[in-house]
Amino acid sequence: MKITTVGTGYVGLVTAALFAKLGNQVWGLDVDKKKIASLKSGKVPFYEPDLEDLVKESIKNKRLHFTSDYQKAVGQSEVVFICVGTPPKADGDYDLQYIFASAKQIAKSLKKYTVIVIKSTVPPNTGSKVKKIIQKETKVSFDIASCPEFLREGSAVKDSLNPSRIVIGTESNQAQEILLKLHKPIKAPRVLCDVVSAQLIKYAANAFLATKISYINSIALLCDKIGADINKVSRGLGLDPRIGQAFLNAGLGYGGSCFAKDTSALVSFSKRQNYNFDFLKQVDQINKLQIDYFVDKAEKLLGGSVKGKIITVLGLSFKPNTDDMREARSIPIIEKLQKKGAEIRALDPVAIDNAKKILKNVNYFKDPYKALQTADALLLITEWEEYAKLDFTKIKKIMRSPVIVDGRNFLPKEKLKKIGFSYEGVGTR
Ligand SMILES: NC(=O)c1ccc[n+]([C@@H]2O[C@H](COP(=O)([O-])OP(=O)(O)OC[C@H]3O[C@@H](n4cnc5c(N)ncnc54)[C@H](O)[C@@H]3O)[C@@H](O)[C@H]2O)c1
Repeated sequence: MKITTVGTGYVGLVTAALFAKLGNQVWGLDVDKKKIASLKSGKVPFYEPDLEDLVKESIKNKRLHFTSDYQKAVGQSEVVFICVGTPPKADGDYDLQYIFASAKQIAKSLKKYTVIVIKSTVPPNTGSKVKKIIQKETKVSFDIASCPEFLREGSAVKDSLNPSRIVIGTESNQAQEILLKLHKPIKAPRVLCDVVSAQLIKYAANAFLATKISYINSIALLCDKIGADINKVSRGLGLDPRIGQAFLNAGLGYGGSCFAKDTSALVSFSKRQNYNFDFLKQVDQINKLQIDYFVDKAEKLLGGSVKGKIITVLGLSFKPNTDDMREARSIPIIEKLQKKGAEIRALDPVAIDNAKKILKNVNYFKDPYKALQTADALLLITEWEEYAKLDFTKIKKIMRSPVIVDGRNFLPKEKLKKIGFSYEGVGTR
């Protein structure tokens, strides 16, 4: 099949590379000409494991092409995936300007019946809005559909090759058949439904996962108060198959481009339907408070003040295996500590270049041992595998005071205590 992905960010590029690997002719289209130039040379402009190899392989097989020209790509495609960003506005409401702009451009480029699939995460009534925009611009027949994306940054390639489910929301049998055919080689349960339901599935999934995280963080706070261990509580809880272990890791809460955005978008959307989703507001509030809780913990362990203290932060990206800094928990934590007068040193295996654009007056390091020399505290923010393997005996010797605050309950607690560190996690000591 011939397809186009409009937008070549995390979702669009992974989708393009996946369908090219499965034997289709794919155009990755983006308005960002710099991105397109980089992709044409096989260079992925962000860090995502295995993606560059997949892109290079399909460029070589002449199945994957990149362009900024809508006419060229959309005009010859049977299926067009809209994968542009849907960022939040300052007040938490959703911003659909990129969706609407791309819909207009797609409409102007249609030459024959095409299935236009919204893959971006959007409010459930966006399908009909996009349909109206396209109908205004063209007489060519088309169908609107929705296949929300569930990939996780850091394991996006693996996730798209082995998805937990494929949701196909359509308004016609013709569109459903085309999308079933396109997805045929991918093994996963199918959920066939209407467009509105498909889009609600995505919001409901992200808001539910965010809820699980805020729930376990609330239990962790209680653990701190009564001396219980959240790691044990979480395991005991998650082994119940009705609950499940995933997303029950207490810590700094969720960051990234999706959970906070989609949770507040669902609140805004619900309000427009005259439904007060106050429950989700609380989920978001708990997530915000985790930052204060963590900074307070560090302050207490450092004798009540961080003023003039050297604090080394391990991990900056919003989660491991990505250089994505969108809504990374490192940002408010570092800014708060700086306001309180701390001197910040920071390291991350891949996110430093992106962090430099956001976090100022930070001393960035590549070598953890140099970053920890004479430091007053080590703060673990992102659980990169390599940080658990550091030589903590050596670290204890080079730090000024042996204080570790583990925002992800990730470091080897018992070992650290044996070495002589003052260790605190979130809901565990
Ligand atoms: N990143 C994730 O993990 C993830 C997972 C599932 C769903 N989503 C959703 O998928 C959507 C895309 O997310 P992303 O992280 O890939 O975004 P991104 O910001 O990485 O990429 C969006 C791309 O769209 C391009 N673009 C914007 N307007 C355009 C236009 N008119 N025509 C062509 N290209 C245009 C931008 O230049 C950019 O390259 C969002 O709705 C997001 O919520 C993201």
